[in-house]
Amino acid sequence: MQTLAQALAEKAVPDSLTHLINTLAATSINISQAVRRGALAGVLGSTDHENVQGETQKKLDVITNDMLKDALAAAGNVRALASEEEDEPVICSDSGDFLVCFDPLDGSSNIDINSLVGTIFSVLPAPEGDVSEQSFLQSGRKQVAAGYVLYGAATMLALTTGKGTQLFTLDTDRNEFLLTQDAVSIAADTAEFAINMSNQRFWESPMQSYIDDLLLGKAGPRAKSFNMRWIAAMVGDVHRVLCRGGIFTYPTDSKNPNKPYKLRLMYEANPMAFLVEQAGGSASTGYQTILDIEPEAIHQRVAVILGSANEVATCLQYHK
Ligand code: F6P
Ligand code: MN
Repeated sequence: MQTLAQALAEKAVPDSLTHLINTLAATSINISQAVRRGALAGVLGSTDHENVQGETQKKLDVITNDMLKDALAAAGNVRALASEEEDEPVICSDSGDFLVCFDPLDGSSNIDINSLVGTIFSVLPAPEGDVSEQSFLQSGRKQVAAGYVLYGAATMLALTTGKGTQLFTLDTDRNEFLLTQDAVSIAADTAEFAINMSNQRFWESPMQSYIDDLLLGKAGPRAKSFNMRWIAAMVGDVHRVLCRGGIFTYPTDSKNPNKPYKLRLMYEANPMAFLVEQAGGSASTGYQTILDIEPEAIHQRVAVILGSANEVATCLQYHK
């Protein structure tokens, strides 16, 4: 089996990007250890702080954010970072090729129940000159790499540098990631969907109609039975989609009029959309391809519909 280093070399990933991906991978191995020790390391539970999103920070949100910040500042080639847990971009060095956006621990509500969590990252080119929030506002098409690390029964890394999507599994004896699936390909058709059904009454009518038709099963217009899954961690749900297909959505809803969308564009939707497209799937808001969105703010939220290409296309028909 190829190591991460060998797999990056085979894809002719430039040295500087390889160094950054190695930094992210090494940090995720440390995060994996902190997550696995859980209560033994005293890392469970909440802090008394809220992040810029108004969410109470878990201890592990803060710990993992600091681990990534320290590692990226030390990497030498990262100009600045934007994190779910930081109000403003953090400048890492005067020079450097990259901007990194990350969600240090996605699925925080799963931390204290020993369920799936993960780290999501997106790498953008750094501009010349001074860096500000504006520098980060590049469309997802500009990403030079994206991925996530899932701290599951096995720790796995999903990675794309724009030449397909690959899955690596952490070999805990060697403490390194080994390539366990090359050229991930998402089945175009599926009979599995993922949505938080408790919000049904708050969705827009196109999503209401689409899900209604799925629930009608064989007797309905889709003429087949669908199964439903919801992990409540985007990393877990997207991982399942990469492994066996499916459609995942966190649609527009009117539950909180000031917050029509839940997922964050820069460090959730864009990196996942890049991984999914590179595996042959699609990702949309319902009205626009995720990777084509011109961002307006680093903490911007968007509706997300992603996964098996034909199923996403069917869902988009309801939005026309
Ligand atoms: O980061 C936001 C997030 O935790 C995602 O990982 C997940 O898909 C979603 O929110 C879960 O939302 P809810 O708690 O509404 O099910
Ligand atoms: Mn998240």
